[in-house]
Parts: sequence; C-alpha cells; structure tokens
Amino acid sequence: MIDLKNVSRIYSSGTGEVRALDDVSLHIPDGDFVSVTGPSGCGKSTLLNILGGLDHPSSGEVFVNGMPLHNAGEKELTHYRRHTLGIVFQFFNLLPAMNVRENVELPLLLRGDSAKLAAPRVAEMLDLVGLSLRATHFPHQLSGGEMQRVAIARAIAGSPKLLLADEPTGNLDSANADIVCETLSKIASQKIATLIIVTHSESVASLATSRIQILDGKIRSYSEKSSSGR
Ligand SMILES: Nc1ncnc2c1ncn2[C@@H]1O[C@H](COP(=O)(O)OP(=O)(O)O)[C@@H](O)[C@H]1O
Ligand SMILES: [Mg+2]
Repeated sequence: MIDLKNVSRIYSSGTGEVRALDDVSLHIPDGDFVSVTGPSGCGKSTLLNILGGLDHPSSGEVFVNGMPLHNAGEKELTHYRRHTLGIVFQFFNLLPAMNVRENVELPLLLRGDSAKLAAPRVAEMLDLVGLSLRATHFPHQLSGGEMQRVAIARAIAGSPKLLLADEPTGNLDSANADIVCETLSKIASQKIATLIIVTHSESVASLATSRIQILDGKIRSYSEKSSSGR
C-alpha cells in the first residue's frame, strides 16, 4: 500500500525554482497495476524516484507498506530497495560483463542469499520472462526487448512488493515493446507485485487497471478502469 501526503519536490537552480511535484496526495492499494502518463517534464520520474527511495521529497510524507520513506536513513533505504522494491529503467542498466543468469542473480547475492538458494529462483524468473535459453548469453548478444526482460526478471527476483518501471518500452521498437508489455501484464495478472509504470505509450497505459495523469507536478486525474478483465 502506498500513501503520499502533500508531497512536493522542489529543485532550485540559478534561474529559480522548479516544482517537479507540487502538493501531491495519492493512495495506491496493494496489487494494483497503475500507469503514470503526462507530458515530458511533468514530474513522472520524480514521483517514481521518490517511491524508489532514490530521491527525497522537499516536503510531505511518503509511506510504502507503512514505512515512512521521507524519514528513512540510507541504511533503511538500502534495505527497502533490496527487499521491498524492484525497479526497471528505460535503458535496462544490465551489467555488460555478466551473463543473463548472473545479472538476475546479483541482487539476490547482494542481499545475502546463497548461490544455492538463488539458483532455482533465477531459473524460475528466466522461465517467467521466457529467456531460459538465454541464461549464458551476455547483454550485447541480446535484443533490446530481451535485455528489458532480463531487467524485469532481475527486478522481481527478490519478490518485491512494489515494481516500478520508468518508460520500460521507451527504447524499444514496437515488436519488442509488445513482448515486454506481455511480460508486464503477466506479472500484474499473477499479482506478483504492485506495479507502477511510467509510459508515453497508450498501449502500455491501456494494460493498467488504474491510471494517473500528471500535469505540471500535479495529479490531473486518477481513475480506475471499472471493467477490468482481472
Ligand atoms: N536533478 C534535477 N535538478 C533540477 N531540475 C530537475 C532535476 N530533475 C528533474 N528536474 C526538473 O523537474 C521537472 C520534472 O522532471 P521529471 O520528473 O524528470 O519529468 P518526467 O519524467 O515527467 O519527464 C522537470 O522540469 C525537470 O527539468
Ligand atoms: Mg522521466
């Protein structure tokens, strides 16, 4: 469960202030699949970064599963990122010197799982994203869509409660974007995690069960699809 209470994020620069988020309040229930849309620069990534513990609000309160992120220190945030959260970025951010299996395994090892414990989980994740046969490939041997599916497998390997994706299909051609969409839909329908996706793509946004539209740092609308197939 996610609660934002009067959250603002203000950037100061030489030319003045930018209100990247302006007094945003939001409640997102567990297991929801939410799309976040809005014009470039409206505050979408800022919202995701705050939910990911990568940025702090200038004012206001942010709770994820009851944890107050606005008050959390580095140690608590590291624990949060390793145990509660998965993040997928537009440019995949895979480690080029590691193969597919090692990329997916890494966050499990970092949080202290043994290689023996991690192995079946990694295999399960690669199966989920349809890349079992690519386990020993390196990122440069994969298509963009395959790299993004590896990044998704890595993000959910640790059983996060919350999966954040910032324009996950923004760097893909439409065929690869469709496959990545299918993978994300599968994750949402299996209720693997609460899923929040920032996107410019109408087809990605239409998969979600709720939709947040942002304009100039404010929530312009937050609607739920009434006739969801889930
Ligand atoms: N580190 C930063 N320093 C100053 N301004 C920033 C910074 N990050 C984002 N902004 C500004 O905040 C606003 C929202 O940015 P962002 O959340 O990245 O938008 P979006 O993801 O919707 O394109 C923009 O005006 C952007 O220029
Ligand atoms: Mg952005």
